[in-house]
Amino acid sequence: MNHSVVATTACATCHNGTSARGKSATHVATTATCDSCHRSTTVWTSVTGAHTAANAVGTGTCDTCHNGASAKGKHAGHVPVPAGAAKCDSCHKSQTAWTTSVTMNHTVVSTAECKACHNGQYLGEGTTGALAKTANHIPEAQLLGGALLDCKSCHTSTTSWLTQRMNHNNSQGNGAGWCKSCHDSATRYAGPMERKSLRHEAGSSTVVTDCSQSGCHRPLGNKGAAYTKWD
Ligand code: HEC
Ligand code: HEC
Ligand code: HEC
Ligand code: HEC
Ligand code: HEC
Ligand code: HEC
Ligand code: HEC
Repeated sequence: MNHSVVATTACATCHNGTSARGKSATHVATTATCDSCHRSTTVWTSVTGAHTAANAVGTGTCDTCHNGASAKGKHAGHVPVPAGAAKCDSCHKSQTAWTTSVTMNHTVVSTAECKACHNGQYLGEGTTGALAKTANHIPEAQLLGGALLDCKSCHTSTTSWLTQRMNHNNSQGNGAGWCKSCHDSATRYAGPMERKSLRHEAGSSTVVTDCSQSGCHRPLGNKGAAYTKWD
């Protein structure tokens, strides 16, 4: 077979399974022309043509082939990537291996909830992994509706979890949101919150139920500024 004299003929004209060998039943599902991936006319296993300059890292074209059908796609345990700005090469900078030159790119996933990834399921993805809340993390459920808060209500850095700004979510300190659940001196949650015993200013006859109540700290009391200053 002299392929050079048929160079202008599309490969699929002959490589259709009748005139010459065609795609097998298990071939990656694709309708693209054979030579967009196969550049060799001697072996089918050399699939080098796919990565031309037009498909190089930086073009964002990867997703058209790497969808699990035309070429290898994301595995089941891959961090959930929202459709849109995030393309494979937003994070993957190698075309020879998926595990080398991978840098988590938070900018392209800014529409996603942090907790879609930072929930303990993806601890093995990346160098440090997508960390989840520590065992002694403050219970957001104590803040009214706090369980609905995303991490970004308090954590805005995507490099360190230690630069948080507490968001009290206007929890009134009653019902599910008692201040004492975090600010009592006996609590064990991590964080720079002030801790005191509930009775630290109370006379022996005063009934004390929480940090914020009549005569004590705002918002229910009259001392300080709500959630920022105690007095
Ligand atoms: C005019 C028909 C024709 C065209 C066009 C053609 N081929 Fe072929 N090709 C053949 C035939 C016939 C054989 C089998 C030769 C043999 O058995 O010795 C072959 C063999 C091959 C082989 C060797 C492995 C095999 O299947 O036996 C590869 C690889 C190959 N072709 C790739 C290509 C690619 C890639 C293109 C397009 C760039 C292409 N061919 C275009 C007819 C064609
Ligand atoms: C999107 C890229 C892509 C396109 C387009 C493509 N292939 Fe393939 N093909 C592959 C990959 C990947 C393999 C697996 C290579 C390996 O096993 O190392 C393969 C393997 C093959 C094989 C050998 C194993 C098998 O599954 O049969 C044949 C024959 C083949 N292709 C023929 C074709 C023909 C004919 C066309 C065009 C009608 C075509 N391919 C288009 C990517 C492609
Ligand atoms: C035209 C289709 C196409 C495009 C576009 C494309 N690839 Fe590929 N890529 C392939 C095929 C086909 C293979 C080899 C078979 C496979 O992995 O399924 C491959 C292989 C790879 C591999 C090696 C996989 C392995 O397991 O050995 C990596 C990594 C890769 N591509 C990354 C990329 C990145 C990153 C981009 C975008 C910058 C990209 N590719 C664009 C078709 C494509
Ligand atoms: C927002 C960033 C991001 C995007 C976008 C992304 N990935 Fe990943 N991917 C990762 C991270 C992080 C890992 C974990 C790397 C590691 O194990 O160190 C990973 C791992 C993988 C792995 C597994 C490597 C292995 O064997 O463990 C594959 C395959 C993969 N990605 C394919 C893709 C494909 C295909 C796309 C595009 C459709 C894509 N990824 C888009 C971040 C991303
Ligand atoms: C699509 C998944 C995904 C989303 C969404 C996401 N992250 Fe990440 N994040 C990761 C992965 C994966 C790593 C680990 C990167 C590495 O180790 O290479 C990481 C790392 C981090 C780190 C460094 C410490 C650590 O956990 O490894 C911080 C801090 C962080 N992310 C904060 C955030 C914040 C805040 C948000 C929401 C604004 C967010 N992330 C959204 C996947 C995600
Ligand atoms: C209501 C505010 C708030 C929310 C919401 C929140 N955090 Fe935190 N987080 C904190 C505070 C306060 C600390 C303690 C920081 C310290 O020790 O200085 C902390 C600490 C952490 C730490 C430990 C940092 C270290 O290295 O010790 C991790 C990890 C963390 N948070 C992850 C998360 C994740 C993941 C989410 C979302 C699922 C989340 N947080 C939601 C307030 C919050
Ligand atoms: C879920 C835990 C939690 C609850 C419930 C909570 N706080 Fe806080 N609070 C914190 C943390 C953590 C900080 C530290 C802020 C920072 O620097 O990140 C803080 C800070 C404060 C501050 C600023 C001074 C300081 O201690 O750093 C005031 C004032 C405050 N809280 C008042 C209240 C009041 C009043 C209530 C009840 C109405 C309340 N908090 C309920 C966790 C909580």
